[in-house]
Amino acid sequence: MRIIPVCMLYLLNYYVMKKESLSKFQYFFILFLAISSVQAFSQQHLSALIPMPNHIESKDGRPFSFFNDIYIQTNLTNNTFLLSELESVLTKRVQHTIKITTTKTTESSIIKLLTDSSITQQDAYVLEITEKCILIKGQDEGAIFYGLKTLDQLLLGDIQNTSKGIISSIKITDSPRYNHRALMLDPARHFIPLKDVKFYIDQMSKFKFNILQLHLTDDQGWRIEIKKHPLLTQKGAFRNPDAGANGPDNGFYTQEDMKDLITYAADRNIEIIPEIDIPGHTVAVLSAYPELGCTHTDTMIKVVGKTVNLMLCASNQKVYQIYDDILKEILQIFPSKTIHLGGDEAAIKENWGACKSCQKLMKELNYKQEKELMSYFFSKMLYIVKKNEKKAVLWCELDNIRMPANKYLFAYPKDVTLMTWRGGLTPKCIDLTSKSGHSLIMAPGEFTYFDYPQYEGDFPEYNNWGMPILTLEKAYAFDPGYNLPQAQQKHILGVTGTLWGEAIKDINRLNYMTYPRALALSEAAWTDMNHRSWSSFKNRIYPNLTDLIMSGVSVRSPFEITDRMNKQ
Ligand code: ACM
Ligand code: ZN
Repeated sequence: MRIIPVCMLYLLNYYVMKKESLSKFQYFFILFLAISSVQAFSQQHLSALIPMPNHIESKDGRPFSFFNDIYIQTNLTNNTFLLSELESVLTKRVQHTIKITTTKTTESSIIKLLTDSSITQQDAYVLEITEKCILIKGQDEGAIFYGLKTLDQLLLGDIQNTSKGIISSIKITDSPRYNHRALMLDPARHFIPLKDVKFYIDQMSKFKFNILQLHLTDDQGWRIEIKKHPLLTQKGAFRNPDAGANGPDNGFYTQEDMKDLITYAADRNIEIIPEIDIPGHTVAVLSAYPELGCTHTDTMIKVVGKTVNLMLCASNQKVYQIYDDILKEILQIFPSKTIHLGGDEAAIKENWGACKSCQKLMKELNYKQEKELMSYFFSKMLYIVKKNEKKAVLWCELDNIRMPANKYLFAYPKDVTLMTWRGGLTPKCIDLTSKSGHSLIMAPGEFTYFDYPQYEGDFPEYNNWGMPILTLEKAYAFDPGYNLPQAQQKHILGVTGTLWGEAIKDINRLNYMTYPRALALSEAAWTDMNHRSWSSFKNRIYPNLTDLIMSGVSVRSPFEITDRMNKQ
């Protein structure tokens, strides 16, 4: 029977990747397969839970019936969003008309959505289903949102009962392993329209991701309006300047767009963390302000998306003045307490090492190596962040972490969080940050770089730049604590799955690269290791993948984990 969803996913992938629209017949055929597959695989209430909750008690009591009049009780004030979410869960999943009453009688069943200050852990919730009551409670709206998402998955998984208008008794007392459960998008390389980012947020919120990192600036684009320096987007947002505002890879978010997106995400318990990458990955800035580059590039024409590997000049005070303006505006737009400042892949020797002005500054500061200028550069940038009462995250580049024997290497201040990413170097990053007292976010290329191909030969036209393969099974094998003793992993805040955009040109491609691997990451982020199991996960993905497809998400068929492949 597993052949049904696999066929369906193949078909859908085919149409999505060919960019052909479906005929009515094709559409209904796929819908039929989708429904059959949900029914074939989803016969009990735990079968669609992703991430798997950390504590579940099955109950013997009679099931809750949606045939009774239902009274909704809540102490939420002003939160019509959660009430509309509840309504959409019920109307989507329960296959008969539900009667909501405004008065409570002895006959009514009750759905309670309650904030409860005695639940102190962030995002922890209780979902309890008994014969006459569905109770969801948590410390705030975000936690209640998660209770609703789990209810949604119970109904999705238990399709036999749901179709009869009942749901089994159960008590789920759940809380996340990590508070940082992120995905990262890269609209700098290929612009992602606002409506597509919202669609992406809709999906990630189903799996209890609570952070979206937006990589807003790079060599290929500057994607956020800065009112004091409009040239940044006038030049930097146009990778194809002749193609006009709607041309491919052109575009930026206005500050109003971004505020709208932040509110949209916050309703779904998602915080947006902006990334403004410095001092490398900055050609889009340099296209607007070429004079911010090092002296040896003075006569070079800097072109968005064409010139690469240039850096901001560490010795040019105008760099710090402009970034004072930029960061001030960014830090006001985003309510997040955190900003990501990049710091990765800086071609230090080729830039600061070749710049007369940087060399002069090095002498004045009595520095022996160019990379010591990172300390100078970031102390100025981090001062701006601190002045605006925020904290910074930087990619973990080992050269820049202080080793005890080398006093010249840049020591990040303790309130900077690092993010590990380079293949093979994560154990070292964990160890160094554990010793130095920095917090760490886990984005190791081996497990969380979802721009990597998913299997040998996976659409080579999109994967022609030599990236290693990251299969679904490998993504699931990720333990963010790297199997270390508790004391050596207690500084780890959580995980980020990255969707670098060099080869991701539109939302369909983006979703194809994200799902199903992000389902694996969501469980790594939320569920304790002793409640995780690959063989259970392999089955729980199907109802979710079919449900994503029915929402219009171009998921990839994980054909390699099916019986067919295992028998070959
Ligand atoms: C990175 O992948 N350059 C952080
Ligand atoms: Zn310079």
